[in-house]
Amino acid sequence: MGRDSRTSQDQGYLLDNRQSEAGTRFEALSALFDASTFRHFETVGIDKGWHCWEVGAGGPTVPAWLAERVGPGGRVLATDIDVSWIGTAGAEGVEVLRHDVALDAPPEGLFDLIHARLVLVHVADRDAALRSMIRALRPGGRLLIEDADPALIPQICPDAYGPEQELANRMRRGFRRLLEQRGADLSYGRKLPRLLRAAGLVEVEADAYFPVTSPACAVLEAASVRQVRDKLVAEGLATEEEIERHLAAVASGRLDVGTSPMISAWGRRPAEDGLG
Ligand SMILES: C[S@@+](CC[C@H](N)C(=O)[O-])C[C@H]1O[C@@H](n2cnc3c(N)ncnc32)[C@H](O)[C@@H]1O
Repeated sequence: MGRDSRTSQDQGYLLDNRQSEAGTRFEALSALFDASTFRHFETVGIDKGWHCWEVGAGGPTVPAWLAERVGPGGRVLATDIDVSWIGTAGAEGVEVLRHDVALDAPPEGLFDLIHARLVLVHVADRDAALRSMIRALRPGGRLLIEDADPALIPQICPDAYGPEQELANRMRRGFRRLLEQRGADLSYGRKLPRLLRAAGLVEVEADAYFPVTSPACAVLEAASVRQVRDKLVAEGLATEEEIERHLAAVASGRLDVGTSPMISAWGRRPAEDGLG
């Protein structure tokens, strides 16, 4: 199940984990979204001895939290197409596996809880990925998918009262264009409840959360723009001068940059079904 020439990463995951900014982005994502994710785990259920699969884990914090909650009798598997940031420090009790959720067969075993945050939106064959996750749920097991819906609130500065805010919103449009070119679905989050129901899950619910401004939003924005700046320029979506001006405005702290809305959707595989 290792990475090979077919992986989604090579086919175009935009925010390549091999770039040094990836670690900064994972820290910012953790600061922005972990509290909401952990609240959702409490809502869907999490208990000692559970087997959990964290899909597209990115950084270490979510698998580490799960490992603490399931205890030594449980299992936490953290997978990603690039596992270099999941790390081992603080991740006691976490199994790490390089795995492409769209292309590789589901890992061994059935899981009580499967979670993916900000992963499927990037995966071109997201239907196959979702099917694979649902197949890996034990009967009665829970799925929690948290994904962005950038099209729901297209502006990164909703209060676009001046040129810096307008530039930030233009930069964001360019960023989203790059995502779309690589097969991202910018309206994916809102579709999750019906997709989970159509896949046979029951007790499906969903809600949304997004920060409007915070220091971590600024860190995320700067790291994301740095990661894709060459592509923005190459595609004619921004000039080097605009990128520098935008990064300076973000660094100044006077720009209220937010993030895309995050839709969290969850459901349960019925105790008896034909999904296996
Ligand atoms: C935006 S990051 C989110 C990371 C983490 N889930 C979080 O919310 O902080 C997306 C992650 O999904 C991973 N990823 C992208 N395509 C994937 C695939 N086909 N299979 C598994 N992981 C994938 C990336 O390598 C990256 O670590």
